[in-house]
Amino acid sequence: MKLLSRSIWLGCIFAAVRACDDHGPEARDGHSHTHNTRAIPSAPLTPPSRALEWGDINIIHTTDSHGWLLGHQKSSFPEPNYSGDFGDFASFVQHMKELSIQKNVDLLLVDSGDLHDGTGLSDGFPAGGVDAHDANKFFEQLPYDVLAIGNHELYDYVNALDMHQNFVPKFAGRYLSSNVNITIPDKHGKPTSVPVGSRFAKFKTRKGRKVTSLGVLFDFTGNAQNTTVQKVEDMVKEQWFAQAIKDEPDFFLLVGHMPIARDNWPLVFNAIRAIHPTTPILILGGHTHIRDCLQLDGRSMSLESGRYMETVGWLTAKLDKRGSKKNITFSRRYLDPNRITYGYHTGRYSPFFDTTQGKQITQGLKQLSKNFDLDFQFGTAPHDFTLSRSPYPSNDSLLTLFIENAIPVALAVNNTRSSTPNIMITNSGSQRFDVYAGPFTKNDQLTASPFADAFLYIPNVPLGIAKQVLPTLNNEGAEERRSLLEEREKTEYGLGYVDRRYKAWLEDMDRRNMIEGRDTDHTKNLTLGYVTKDACPGVGDDTPHMPLPFYSSPDFIGSQPPNLPDDAPVDLVFVDFIQSQLIPVLNTLQKDKVYANSDVASYSPILANAALGLYAQSAWSK
Ligand SMILES: *[C@@H]1O[C@H](CO)[C@@H](O)[C@H](O)[C@H]1NC(C)=O
Ligand SMILES: *[C@@H]1O[C@H](CO)[C@@H](O)[C@H](O)[C@H]1NC(C)=O
Ligand SMILES: *[C@@H]1O[C@H](CO)[C@@H](O)[C@H](O)[C@H]1NC(C)=O
Ligand SMILES: *[C@@H]1O[C@H](CO)[C@@H](O)[C@H](O)[C@H]1NC(C)=O
Ligand SMILES: *[C@@H]1O[C@H](CO)[C@@H](O)[C@H](O)[C@H]1NC(C)=O
Ligand SMILES: *[C@@H]1O[C@H](CO)[C@@H](O)[C@H](O)[C@H]1NC(C)=O
Ligand SMILES: *[C@@H]1O[C@H](CO)[C@@H](O)[C@H](O)[C@H]1NC(C)=O
Ligand SMILES: [Zn+2]
Ligand SMILES: [Zn+2]
Repeated sequence: MKLLSRSIWLGCIFAAVRACDDHGPEARDGHSHTHNTRAIPSAPLTPPSRALEWGDINIIHTTDSHGWLLGHQKSSFPEPNYSGDFGDFASFVQHMKELSIQKNVDLLLVDSGDLHDGTGLSDGFPAGGVDAHDANKFFEQLPYDVLAIGNHELYDYVNALDMHQNFVPKFAGRYLSSNVNITIPDKHGKPTSVPVGSRFAKFKTRKGRKVTSLGVLFDFTGNAQNTTVQKVEDMVKEQWFAQAIKDEPDFFLLVGHMPIARDNWPLVFNAIRAIHPTTPILILGGHTHIRDCLQLDGRSMSLESGRYMETVGWLTAKLDKRGSKKNITFSRRYLDPNRITYGYHTGRYSPFFDTTQGKQITQGLKQLSKNFDLDFQFGTAPHDFTLSRSPYPSNDSLLTLFIENAIPVALAVNNTRSSTPNIMITNSGSQRFDVYAGPFTKNDQLTASPFADAFLYIPNVPLGIAKQVLPTLNNEGAEERRSLLEEREKTEYGLGYVDRRYKAWLEDMDRRNMIEGRDTDHTKNLTLGYVTKDACPGVGDDTPHMPLPFYSSPDFIGSQPPNLPDDAPVDLVFVDFIQSQLIPVLNTLQKDKVYANSDVASYSPILANAALGLYAQSAWSK
């Protein structure tokens, strides 16, 4: 990302909020903001709504950070809300630690996994590097008490090995992988399966409270060879598990890369409750990228804290006497990670906010970005292109941009086939993150469109048949296919796809807002962001927002068919990722020919993850 742009708009926001008493990063690195091009937001800016509640046990929770350590740097809403970088976060944590000492309570820092895959900082490494290896060094500098492994640590063996060899040792037994092993050679070169981190941890808090902690991964099936994920139902039957939970601690701290609802936490919870009916159990989950909270009983609370450093979770508990059966007083909050939030809750503002370590981390992240050349600019996006905030198809849809504009331009480069009429099809999951107005950089390309899928084609498909492939793939209205669909969704869930749950969450907040009235919110001048309704008492969001508009999109997207007669032969172009779904569809649509993999040829050497950059270079640069 163009790092300078961060100071440009921060200057603006901060000026609007608190008469510029905090200049954001430019106070640190000396940039002036004379190059200020950002329009002043039309809505007045809203700080957090109220002070945090503190308990005896207080937890700061991160999850699914996916390399977003430089924070969200774009000026389009709601990105500024998530603009705090990991250096800002480190300063926040240190001030919160000091506050906890003043208040004479415990403060723990916990992470639920998925450190890999998401931005240039994790994925933009030069050839020969390992994903997130460098970004993880910044994680190591924070005083994490417990961390758990995520599925994104396990898609590639080298990533899991890097965690095991280089990351895990930095956390002295507190990086947990209760049900995840890696196979490595032992002293004699013999392959041996060992936990990636530790299976559990027992430790004492600063105030001397005894904690038993586990780190559980959901039943993930997409893991690399030579890594092992044990099903949660099998894990709770293990001897080591029984042994680990046998003695009663002051509380159980269950951290894991598993959604707090509609997954297997109850298996772990019930196994503990069978032995310890009243011991407090705190659950910090993740993976579906949503904000969520629920209570499995009155002496337990479960929290899930979003994704991409768009949320920092806060969970507190007022502990009572051991053996008490009364409900425990809990609180939870979803913080928008930015310097306004951090200042509000610590009472520290620039120049007293940034710690030495915080400044070093910010500097280090910027240097890493430079080393990876993440600021390399392909062009300037004329406006925002979003995944679900604009209808598909529409000019503001990233999916439309990709399939109607970017792919045709990118695949025509050096391609003799490009003069043959075609229909191009891909899966909508091929795009991961919105493209925002302004510089479109290497980092933005890695963030928005990370998948290195190849383009294939089948020549001479009659247009009339080719036209029907997309709607058939999308399976419009086919009732009889419903159970098949459910089966597919289950398989995809096992492989780690979370978009369905995340989008359902967005859709729900948008729908509720329609019913409750967007206008009421407008009059309160709220900024766009997440509006969480969970199953815990009180309001969870730290800063009130108006929900983002939500539009659903089909699973598959395609280019406009050429304007030709139905019997005209066209190239049917598609990404390799969908080949196994596409060929059977083609064979149900016509009987003249039985298509097979041997009819498929390579269409272009350009991979899907290069398309937006090539397009930006041709259409968005001057
Ligand atoms: C969220 O972002 C908006 C827009 O930039 C800003 O006004 C608001 O203060 C932010 N919220 C917090 C808690 O900083
Ligand atoms: C898995 O480990 C075994 C034993 O070390 C090795 O022979 C094999 O090549 C590994 N497979 C992969 C895909 O890494
Ligand atoms: C994980 O590693 C431990 C220790 O080597 C071993 O006892 C256990 O069987 C392994 N678990 C799985 C599921 O492979
Ligand atoms: C205790 O908490 C449980 C679970 O949240 C709730 O169902 C129950 O009503 C609470 N009991 C009291 C007395 O508040
Ligand atoms: C969408 O973009 C096209 C091409 O730039 C333009 O002709 C059309 O007017 C735009 N549609 C809308 C609704 O803005
Ligand atoms: C297209 O071909 C030219 C000449 O061979 C080459 O320099 C250029 O890099 C190619 N473009 C792409 C995107 O591969
Ligand atoms: C909301 O914005 C309007 C102008 O757009 C302003 O007149 C009004 O005072 C604002 N209300 C609040 C509560 O800030
Ligand atoms: Zn994730
Ligand atoms: Zn995950």
